[in-house]
Amino acid sequence: MIEISNISKTFPSSSDSELSILNNISLTIKDGEFVSIVGPSGCGKSTLLRIIAGLLLPDTGEVLVNGKAIDGPSNNRFVVFQDYCLFPWMTVANNVALGMKVKRFDKNDIKEKINWAINLVGLSGFEKSYPHQLSGGMKQRVAIARALVMDPDILLMDEPFGALDSFTRMKLQDELLSMYNTKDFITLFITHDSDEAVYLSDRIVVFSGVPAEIKEIIEVKAPRPRDRTSPEFMKIRNRIIELGRGK
Ligand SMILES: Nc1ncnc2c1ncn2[C@@H]1O[C@H](COP(=O)(O)OP(=O)(O)O)[C@@H](O)[C@H]1O
Ligand SMILES: [Mg+2]
Repeated sequence: MIEISNISKTFPSSSDSELSILNNISLTIKDGEFVSIVGPSGCGKSTLLRIIAGLLLPDTGEVLVNGKAIDGPSNNRFVVFQDYCLFPWMTVANNVALGMKVKRFDKNDIKEKINWAINLVGLSGFEKSYPHQLSGGMKQRVAIARALVMDPDILLMDEPFGALDSFTRMKLQDELLSMYNTKDFITLFITHDSDEAVYLSDRIVVFSGVPAEIKEIIEVKAPRPRDRTSPEFMKIRNRIIELGRGK
């Protein structure tokens, strides 16, 4: 369980003034839940994710994971970013293995996990390829595999499919959902795509503009796989768009 309580964050801005980014954000995410955050660009979504990842300290408030205050990054919470963050000089297999090597996992264990994860994300046969030989969708699969081998309980995803064309994005959305047959993650997923949020999430947290406050939390009860053209689907998507327009 993740308990986010009263998180606020202010950054110094270019003048002497300060820019308040997050204002008193509280949110509890249960085990196995898929929660999306949508909101206008620059409102503080990535900042909140970095705080939960343990990469940034909030000014006020705290984040508890399974009842314990976080004090820095952990294998248990893994971040997947939009721009893949792969090392261009390393093969797919070595990119996937990186975190395990840093943490000095057993060699045989590393090999086994690389095979398992690469297979799971559909990249078998590309182990020896380099990032420049892959499409955007394949690069993001490598980044997801790199997260999975660390066996996190919490996946933090910051617009992971934002740079992909809509067909690849839909395919990866399905692949992401199918991973949940293997393990029950908590997923906190940031997106600016309302359709993607409704397709994937158990709950959608809609942020207002700067400073970000929670405008509304929408529960999506439709069973998966969801039909993007159904009236219930469109109703929720339209609600998110309405909220984005400030209604
Ligand atoms: N380390 C930082 N120092 C100063 N300003 C920052 C820093 N990180 C983010 N910001 C500012 O905070 C605001 C929110 O950023 P971010 O969380 O990345 O927004 P979002 O992900 O919702 O688009 C932006 O205006 C950004 O310029
Ligand atoms: Mg962002």
